[in-house]
Amino acid sequence: MWYNNADAAYHQSLTHLGSTHLNMEGMSISTHRKLSVSHPLFKLLGPHFLYLLSINNLAYTTLLPPGGWVDTSMTTGAKGMIELVGKGMSEWRMDVDGTLPEDLKNRRVDDVSALPNYHYRDDALLLYEAIKNYVTKYVNLYYKSPKDIAGDWELRSWAKELSLRKEKGGVGVLGIPNGGDLKCNEDIVLVATCIIYTCSVTHAAANFLQYEQYAFPANYPSLMAGSPPTTKDAKMAIIDYLPGKAETLDIMVMTNILSLRAANGLGNFEVQYVYDPEAVDIVNEFRAKLKEISKTIQSRNKSRKHPYDILDPKLIPNSISI
Ligand SMILES: [Fe+2]
Repeated sequence: MWYNNADAAYHQSLTHLGSTHLNMEGMSISTHRKLSVSHPLFKLLGPHFLYLLSINNLAYTTLLPPGGWVDTSMTTGAKGMIELVGKGMSEWRMDVDGTLPEDLKNRRVDDVSALPNYHYRDDALLLYEAIKNYVTKYVNLYYKSPKDIAGDWELRSWAKELSLRKEKGGVGVLGIPNGGDLKCNEDIVLVATCIIYTCSVTHAAANFLQYEQYAFPANYPSLMAGSPPTTKDAKMAIIDYLPGKAETLDIMVMTNILSLRAANGLGNFEVQYVYDPEAVDIVNEFRAKLKEISKTIQSRNKSRKHPYDILDPKLIPNSISI
């Protein structure tokens, strides 16, 4: 339980709030500041930022203030959570942590024979490849040569702001190709794939199992009292360390609300920005691929000991909306 208590602190601060909600807030603001609504990249990314600022604002005003849910339901408290976010996100890199195949290698969980039944990895890889393929075709439609990139001042100014250090007014994202000086289509694809993948797949995996994980505190306690035992023969009454009835109810209610889906499934966009016929074909191809992936995941789940439907694309919202 103490281990899971520490894991819960990591999960809520970094896997969930830091890497998805707050990380994408900066990228969303920069995208709205630097790209016009008629820019092809804005049209590609726009649907994935829907409701993000609104849900983050709710988190700032209801979950994180002194005495709010994080203070009463998590051992870290809001202050500890923000400290963890600051420490963890100062090392987050788009080309490693935000690029799934590199992230799996970096965390040494990419070897299927050494680590079978890691359903997140196996399902997420299908989705990452589908998103990357979709983004590649879309980017190739609008950028025919490096000259097109060099001449696109909106795109260049956007990537520069994403990379610029926070102290200088930028978003401070590490690991953007060439420090934000995008030179080829692959550079644009890496950035756009990371944004779409993080707003949809990463957030879904981090968000929608909250009730299942947290609602029975003995399974995954977000809140524990006292300190871990230091000797093996320590006599402890477990009940003294677990949250009480009122706190447990608060944890159940909030994680239940946070596990609700509030946006359409991936590819079924609430707002349509793409009308260019060639681009519409690319979007439709992406939707067909997602249907195929949904079937693959459903058939995988028939033979899995513990079915994992969290990454069925039908159940992955387009954006971070809760
Ligand atoms: Fe969330």
